[in-house]
Amino acid sequence: MATKGKSRWEDDEEDVAEETRRKVEKESRKKAKAEKDRLKAEQEAAVAAAAAAAAEQTAAGSDQPPTKRRRLDADATPPPAGQQDSNAPLKLLRYTPPEIVPCAHVDRYEPLNRIEEGSYGVVSRARDRETGEVVALKKLKLERETDGFPITSLREIQTLMASKHPNVVNIREIVMGDTLKDVFIVMDFIEHDLKILSEDMQEPFLQSEVKTLMLQLVSATALMHSQWIVHRDLKTSNLLMNNRGQIKVADFGLARYLGEPTPPLTQLVVTLWYRSPELLLGGKEYGTEVDMWSIGCIFGELLLKEPLLQGKNEVDQLSKIFELCGIPTEENWPGFRKLPNAKALNFPRNRLTIGSHLRARFPLLTSSGVDLLSRLLALDPSQRITAEEVLRHPYFKEDPKPKSAEMFPTFPSKAGQEKRRRHMSPSAPVRGDAPALQGDFGGLFGAQDEEEVGAGFVLRMGR
Ligand SMILES: Nc1ncnc2c1ncn2[C@@H]1O[C@H](COP(=O)(O)OP(=O)(O)O)[C@@H](O)[C@H]1O
Ligand SMILES: [Mg+2]
Repeated sequence: MATKGKSRWEDDEEDVAEETRRKVEKESRKKAKAEKDRLKAEQEAAVAAAAAAAAEQTAAGSDQPPTKRRRLDADATPPPAGQQDSNAPLKLLRYTPPEIVPCAHVDRYEPLNRIEEGSYGVVSRARDRETGEVVALKKLKLERETDGFPITSLREIQTLMASKHPNVVNIREIVMGDTLKDVFIVMDFIEHDLKILSEDMQEPFLQSEVKTLMLQLVSATALMHSQWIVHRDLKTSNLLMNNRGQIKVADFGLARYLGEPTPPLTQLVVTLWYRSPELLLGGKEYGTEVDMWSIGCIFGELLLKEPLLQGKNEVDQLSKIFELCGIPTEENWPGFRKLPNAKALNFPRNRLTIGSHLRARFPLLTSSGVDLLSRLLALDPSQRITAEEVLRHPYFKEDPKPKSAEMFPTFPSKAGQEKRRRHMSPSAPVRGDAPALQGDFGGLFGAQDEEEVGAGFVLRMGR
């Protein structure tokens, strides 16, 4: 059966050619794939390098130049040495600068009613003409400024913007009026401030409510302090409260960043009734502890429904503090005598004035509540409790537990209707008054025979 002839299955020339063509095709496909893989790997490496460079720049702070020049696109690969074309146009680094947009005009808000005229600004209620949302507009007081935009107003805007927190009032934008002196902070409108609210309430807040409000205030303060921001004017009129049981810290008019080491700071900060003893004694190197003292005063005020320490002036304020918290000694406040105004103090050696009277003033407060209050009102700032520590204090774990914010009662809003009625209370220190104060203090504390009488407690001045 076998034939000598060519098998019809044997490869002929055509088959060989076809086989060769297939091989070549396969080879070139393989090459193309290898080239594609190489290009892909190169591209990925370039993207990773750009991301790393961007991360490096972010870490260095957006307002800082990048530490190294970086290549931004794959085309910018320099040709191998020797092949450089000196005539080729140089490629510049391209940066995407932060977008600078003009402020909107205040006209986009329809004025509704004046809420309050405070020490630094006028606050009014307004409606966004586009969205219909009700907002609060705070007009910065710039009329008297002759030196351009004041650093204090810049700080107010900067620190408020840096303190994003559910318990800090939300800043929406800055808008301008017709002149450079018309600058407004646009914020969410919040129905109440805690001062007016508690003045209008029949009964003080319940313990469970005080706990919730304190936790909110302290968690906002913990955030500020973690950002090196000290508020320097915490008080009930600067705490706004909405109808959902939420506190919003407001009024960053005296806030500032602290440096390391702390620069000399003005002592004329914090409204008198909420001012800490180290500030009253003229300390210039204070820190976030001044806010914790104010929080102690607010804690007492929420429980009593009236301000805790209502001094008539700086000396009277100190005497009220020492009456409630005990007088400072080298044991309970080492080094306090070195504070500028302390040298002139002469304490009566009266047993009644020694020791804390907090327990007697708050007979219904549990011992852990009194413990918290006394740690907030520690005379020595270095022994004062920090915001983070307050959040972990056992007072908030014991019964009655903090009331959930949704369970808070709602109140009619005065701010939403008419100009608010404000009871007499001191206002925040006026900016620029600080240098004059030192002299006043010298006079008050230096007097040999002058005496200030405060709440049954006599503080003798003189050496
Ligand atoms: N966002 C707001 N919503 C509603 N009322 C506000 C708002 N901001 C401030 N207020 C009211 O205006 C008052 C004064 O505002 P504030 O920022 O404290 O200014 P000042 O620096 O003049 O004290 C506050 O005590 C509060 O009653
Ligand atoms: Mg205020």
